[in-house]
Amino acid sequence: MFAVQYLRFGGPDVLEVGQIDQPHPGPGEVRIAVRASGITGADAILRSGGLRPDLKFPHIPGVDAAGVVDEIGLGVTGVAIGDEVFGAVDVMLLGGAAAEFAVLQFWAPKPPTWSWAEAGGAATSVETATRTLDALGIGLGSTLLIEGASGAVGSVAVQLAVARGVRVVGTGSPQNHDLIAELGGVPTTYGPGLPVRVAKLAPDGVDAALDVAGAGSLPDLLTITGDAAKVLTIADFTAPDHGVRLSYSGSGQPDGRHGLSTAARLAAEGRLRIIVRDTFGFGRAAEAHARAEDRRGSGKVVLTVS
Ligand SMILES: NC(=O)c1ccc[n+]([C@@H]2O[C@H](COP(=O)([O-])OP(=O)(O)OC[C@H]3O[C@@H](n4cnc5c(N)ncnc54)[C@H](OP(=O)(O)O)[C@@H]3O)[C@@H](O)[C@H]2O)c1
Repeated sequence: MFAVQYLRFGGPDVLEVGQIDQPHPGPGEVRIAVRASGITGADAILRSGGLRPDLKFPHIPGVDAAGVVDEIGLGVTGVAIGDEVFGAVDVMLLGGAAAEFAVLQFWAPKPPTWSWAEAGGAATSVETATRTLDALGIGLGSTLLIEGASGAVGSVAVQLAVARGVRVVGTGSPQNHDLIAELGGVPTTYGPGLPVRVAKLAPDGVDAALDVAGAGSLPDLLTITGDAAKVLTIADFTAPDHGVRLSYSGSGQPDGRHGLSTAARLAAEGRLRIIVRDTFGFGRAAEAHARAEDRRGSGKVVLTVS
């Protein structure tokens, strides 16, 4: 099969399309003929050598994918050959999705309202947003501050929280405030003075704060909530210094993969959008990774099979 792959660590230019053996699903897994595969922040860190120095080459990047089921592993029920699904590969492997065929560990039906690109960029954002909202324990009537509400994970977290009946105050650059408002959040700017701005927007206080930006704002989030137990980050590795929980896949904590079916339902009802910044054919994977890393605009960069 064809696959995007790399044989050494480096910048986006180490990516090439080559031929590699097809994978097959193990028990509990399905294989899809990939139609789209979103690029995540972890793809770039892994490719640059910053995450797993012992990574085996060739490595196929990509964790998120959407496509058509073409093989079904032992014990799998509720899905048939030919079904259109979106999901994620084994998140611990951090790879395998940017290929002609990918083996998914968890998935849900592709909502008819989503393009392939939207579906291909959805799964780990949905899993992460679901996992963190669950861990914060917020629900109907709560107020949640999301630091980084305009990003790939943040935009999904805003919409899933709103669907749970939560009032969301979300930070982003001024040019993304309209987007945050369209998603159902009350926008504000990140950076110095955040506690004062949030106090004006949520005079009764916030019940929890979710940091998806990892930009050093945990001290402010502690000031705003007054309690480290009410703060959760997915991207700030100084969390233990502040007594704050750091949530990540494979941490042994309950995961959020059950959120994919909720997301599919909300999307079918027009209540969940995946923001796609750009799409590229698989042959332009190097350009796509460079685009994902240039930080201009918000949302996912997605590789598509045309
Ligand atoms: N632990 C996990 O399970 C997990 C899972 C997925 C991702 N992650 C990590 O989570 C982080 C976010 O991922 P993503 O894909 O959502 O990234 P993204 O799409 O690039 O979004 C980043 C967000 O941070 C905001 N931001 C940028 N600079 C900021 C600053 N100085 N202060 C506050 N906010 C700022 C951006 O706002 P503007 O664009 O409006 O400026 C945007 O809302 C990455 O580090 C990623 O590796 C962790």
